[in-house]
Formats: sequence, C-alpha cells, structure tokens
Amino acid sequence: MPTPTRRDFLRAVSTASAAALAIGLPGPAVAATAITPRRKGASVVGLRVPKIDIVRCGVIGLGERGLPTLRELMLLEGCEVKAICDIHAPSLQAGSAEVLKRGRAGVKTFGEHAESYLKMLEMPDLDAVFICTPWRLHVPMAVAAMKAGKHAFIEVPAAVTLEECWQLVDTAEETQRHCMMMENVCYGRDELMLLRMCREGVLGELLHGEGAYIHDLRHQMKSLDHGTGSWRTTEHELRNGNIYPTHGLGPIAQYMSINRGDRFSRLVSFSSPSLGMPDYAAQNFPEGHRRRTAKYICGDMNTAIIKTAKGRTIVVQHDTQNPNPYSRANVIKGTKGVFSGYPNRIYIEGRSPKEHAWETDLTRYYQEFEHPLWKKVEAIAAKLPAEGTSGHGGMDFVMRWRIIQCLREGLPLDQDVYDAAAWSSISELSEKSVAQDGASLEVPDFTRGAWEKTAPLGIVS
Ligand SMILES: NC(=O)c1ccc[n+]([C@@H]2O[C@H](COP(=O)([O-])OP(=O)(O)OC[C@H]3O[C@@H](n4cnc5c(N)ncnc54)[C@H](O)[C@@H]3O)[C@@H](O)[C@H]2O)c1
Repeated sequence: MPTPTRRDFLRAVSTASAAALAIGLPGPAVAATAITPRRKGASVVGLRVPKIDIVRCGVIGLGERGLPTLRELMLLEGCEVKAICDIHAPSLQAGSAEVLKRGRAGVKTFGEHAESYLKMLEMPDLDAVFICTPWRLHVPMAVAAMKAGKHAFIEVPAAVTLEECWQLVDTAEETQRHCMMMENVCYGRDELMLLRMCREGVLGELLHGEGAYIHDLRHQMKSLDHGTGSWRTTEHELRNGNIYPTHGLGPIAQYMSINRGDRFSRLVSFSSPSLGMPDYAAQNFPEGHRRRTAKYICGDMNTAIIKTAKGRTIVVQHDTQNPNPYSRANVIKGTKGVFSGYPNRIYIEGRSPKEHAWETDLTRYYQEFEHPLWKKVEAIAAKLPAEGTSGHGGMDFVMRWRIIQCLREGLPLDQDVYDAAAWSSISELSEKSVAQDGASLEVPDFTRGAWEKTAPLGIVS
C-alpha cells in the first residue's frame, strides 16, 4: 500500500469534517488516516544479533525502579554490570553501595549533569543499557543508546508521544539494535499461564480483553523535589488521557498476538472529571502550596477502547488518583470461556464444573497450564537471595532473566520495538481522542504491514 502523503492526510481530514458538518456533528467524529513515515532502515521483526556470552550492562536512573533493576542484574549468570548513572547524588551513592555489597569491582559511575549518560554510552565495553528514568527521558536516552551501538531496555511506558514512538522504531531499524520496553507484567505467573492457554485454544477464538492500571498513588504527591511523585504528578497537570497504559494492555496484546497476526486499528477514549488530586492536595498541603494551586487536568478514570484489525475489542483503564484496591483487570474472553483477574476467576464451557458459575480455585489450571518459563526461572530464583528476585511477585526477575537469556543465545526478544511503540502509543492517542470528545482515531501500524506475516509468540522455555 502506498504511504499516504501530507496532501492525502489533509484531504481525508477535510472530507471527514465536511461529512460531519453535513449531518450536524460539531467536528470530525472519525479522524483521518494515521501517517506512516517512510522507513529509514530495515525491519527488525524477529531481530537476531550475534550471541553475547557475557552481557555487559549499564543502568541509567537508580530510583525506585533502577535500584532493584541493578540488584537483579548483578544476580544473573552471564550478566555483568559495568556502569551506573544518576544525576541525584544520594541515588548514585545508593547504587554504588549495592555494587559494593555484591563485591563488584570496576563499575564506573556517571551523574555530574543531565547528559552524563552520553559519556557512559561512549564506553566500548557496554552491550545493553537499562533505562529507568522519568518518562520523558526514555526516548532521548534509548535513541542515544542505540546510536552508540547498545541495545536499549526501557522502563514503561517506552514513549510519551506518537512522534517518540516513531523515533524508537526508526532508530531501532536504522541501527539494527534491540529496543525493548520492559513490560514486566507480561512475565507474571497468571499472565504467562493465560498466554499459554490462549495459544492452546483453551478459551477458543479470542474476542475481547480488558487491562487497567488502577493503583492509588496519591501519596506520591508528597514527593516534591525528588522521587517518582516529583515528576509523575506534573504529568497530571499536562495531559488528560490514559497516561500509563502498558501494564494492563501488554499481556492482553500478547494473548491476542498484536503485531503478530493482529494489530490495534482504532481507539476511542473518554476521561472522567479530575477530582482525586485536588481533593488530596486540599487535605494534605497548606493553602497556597504548589500542590494546591496546580491545575490537574488528567481525568481520574480514563477509559480507552481499542479495536483490532480482526475486530476484537480491548478496554484499557487508568486511575491512580482515587481510593481503590489495586487492579490490572486482566480480562480475556473467547468463544469457549473467560478469565478475569482481581480477583482471579475463570469459566470455561465444558471444563468448569457448574454452568454459568465462576471457578475461583485455579490450582488445577496452574497444574495443567503453568508456563514452562515460569517453572524454569522459579527454580533458578529459589537458589538466589529473595531480596533480589521477588519484585512484583517474581515477574521482574523472570523478565530480566529472559532478557539476558535472549541476548546470550542470540534469540529475538519477546517484546520488540513495535510492541513498545504500539502499546505506548495509547497514551497520546487517548489524549487526542479525549480532546475531541471521544473521536475515533486510527492507531499507526508501526510494523508497516509486517504484522500480517509475523508468527505469534511461542511458548518459550
Ligand atoms: N515496570 C514497573 O513495574 C515499574 C515500577 C515503577 C516504576 N517504573 C518506571 O520506571 C521509571 C522510573 O520510575 P521510578 O519510580 O524509579 O522514578 P524515580 O524518580 O524514583 O527514579 C528516577 C531516577 O532517574 C534519575 N534521573 C533523572 N534524570 C536523570 C538523568 N538525566 N540522568 C540520569 N539519571 C536521571 C533520578 O535522579 C531518579 O533517581 C518510570 O518510567 C516508571 O514508569 C516501572
């Protein structure tokens, strides 16, 4: 299919606007075709790079997420931490202390200023860089890492804007480097088991999924000058949409083989009013405090609905601003049954003992469908210190173990740059849809057509 030109785009917009006005709608209800920029390099679908016997790593950002990342990398066989970087002196010191605790010598430290990571990227003895910094630093850091010849592993979400999503894709294709968003939830025990059940057809043909990030994080507003809340709270002042979509969405995308046989095609999104943060600020900060005077525009509950090329539907919700028990929803529904998380329950026609009734004891499903990767890495983790392997119920360790295994064996990664882009793109698309009162927007095809020919993710061990 030819790549649409700017003129095609403008023509499509004006046609949609004219049609909308003709039927009395206030504006275009259906947005125009997403532009697919011209490819600059070669596709990295199924990218294999030469085996790396000992993977030499650097970690940028040593906060809440970076420190456990560093800790785990130092436990992994075939993985050597060579450098750490943070601009906040106490965080860099905490990283150095971890390194010393494990008796590692020769780990270089960087962090004099905001671009010190570039100096770190000049190190010739560095294969992979783990980026655990605030969201808006992910793409500049990952792009620089790939351009310096390193494989880039980025925290979630990989990118904030659509433009940034394309930057990741283009740079990975130009440099032929791995670029993975580390969506750890895809390596959770339940999620891996469900992936296997979906692949084995236990739920039948898949129809619908639901993912969410519902996590009361209001306490983070108390971090003012450093720490997660210091930058994350600001995002709520700047954007109204589904600003952290990938924890719930990533596993659903893998169950449905998004970018590997199906793809996200359209999205609509609405946000509720924004009341949680102003309310929390009023209760916890004095009058005139910047947390009280700030205007929080991000609606408390954002709901995005994605339609896939095969006509399936996915609901993605985000709320970090209200009292609510934690939930990622994790619903996957097919023609033979349905699984729903938070709390876990399942119903499969012909398998579940009672008609129309959930099964809440999943023991027999774990016995039959436990993912081999989970079993294997659980046994490895059991021999290592729990402190370094138990993050998020073990999923973090499974993910990092698997990353290092893929690099050591020269295997393609389970999540590639197209997944990073597609899953992250929901952020800006939802903002745009909310701003246009729920307009239906096209999701770019970051694979540029390759999704139709790419095989689904296998059940790896
Ligand atoms: N996958 C998960 O389960 C999970 C959990 C928590 C956080 N995260 C993600 O991890 C990332 C980091 O979050 P966090 O909670 O650790 O934040 P944080 O604020 O605790 O840590 C970020 C660190 O980056 C450092 N930093 C900022 N600018 C820098 C620069 N120019 N060079 C070097 N270091 C710099 C900061 O000093 C800080 O120590 C975010 O993308 C977040 O969404 C993911």
